[in-house]
This record gives sequence, C-alpha cells and structure tokens, in this order.
Amino acid sequence: QYEKLWIVGAMILIVGFIVTITYGSVGLGITMIGDEEETIAPDELNDDEQFGEPRVEQVGENEYAAYVVAQTFIFQPDPIEIPANNEITFHVTSRDVIHGFYVPGTNINAMAIPGQVAELTVEFDEPGEHGLICHEYCGSGHHTMEGLIVVQ
Ligand code: CUA
Repeated sequence: QYEKLWIVGAMILIVGFIVTITYGSVGLGITMIGDEEETIAPDELNDDEQFGEPRVEQVGENEYAAYVVAQTFIFQPDPIEIPANNEITFHVTSRDVIHGFYVPGTNINAMAIPGQVAELTVEFDEPGEHGLICHEYCGSGHHTMEGLIVVQ
C-alpha cells in the first residue's frame, strides 16, 4: 500500500523535473538547433577569411554566422550583435589557451579550444542582452573575462 504511494510520489517528482527543464529552456526563448566541430590552427587565425576579423555575417535568408575568437581575457567581437528570430551559428575558437563560452541560464555552453572550432546553432526569440562569460579557468584575468550578446 505505502509502496504504491512512494512510486506515485517519485513519478510526480520526475514529471515535475521534466516540466521544469522544458519550461526553463522554452521560457528563455532560445532554441538549440545543433552543434558540431571543425579545426583551425591558432597561428592561422589572422589569415583566416572569417576569424581574421571576428564578426557576425549573414549567410542565408534567415541564417547568420558569428565568428568568435576567445583570448586572454576577451571575446571578439564584443558585443556580438545578432538579430532575433534567425538561426545563428556561433563558431568559437581560441587564440591561446582553453577558454569557456557560456551564456548563464541557457544551454549556450561550449569550450573555446585552440585548434578547434566549436559550433553552436541557436535562435533567440526576443530582443535583449545576454552576458557571456568564460567558465574555464584561463589565468589571472579569468574572472574578468566576459562579453555581451545583443539580440536586436
Ligand atoms: Cu578565459 Cu577563463
């Protein structure tokens, strides 16, 4: 008799967690579409067509690419200006050591690794500003390493 109550109670808790997680991501209006990785050597960054001048560019009708370079202790570009209701793919790499690329409260979370390009595709439903932080320890200025994503 009591066992049954425990099972029902546990199931209610589990459903509650799932609802919380789902609502949490929906409530922020950010849709994670996919992620993958490419490579690029740090000493090739300056000559690279995109990373040579880190920026956001339109790549399709409703698609944008943000090329982001992390280095001690900044992100470039800063701010990262992107339009709402468009697919944005962040291409993130590092010029020196391992950094983090994290927008607190969202699932935008990647490591910026020298030699690699992390790719995250997301969509912001609403204009607004989102802080960006480095969440991998990268040296004495780690705690000051932050950027800004401006959704217009
Ligand atoms: Cu860059 Cu911590």
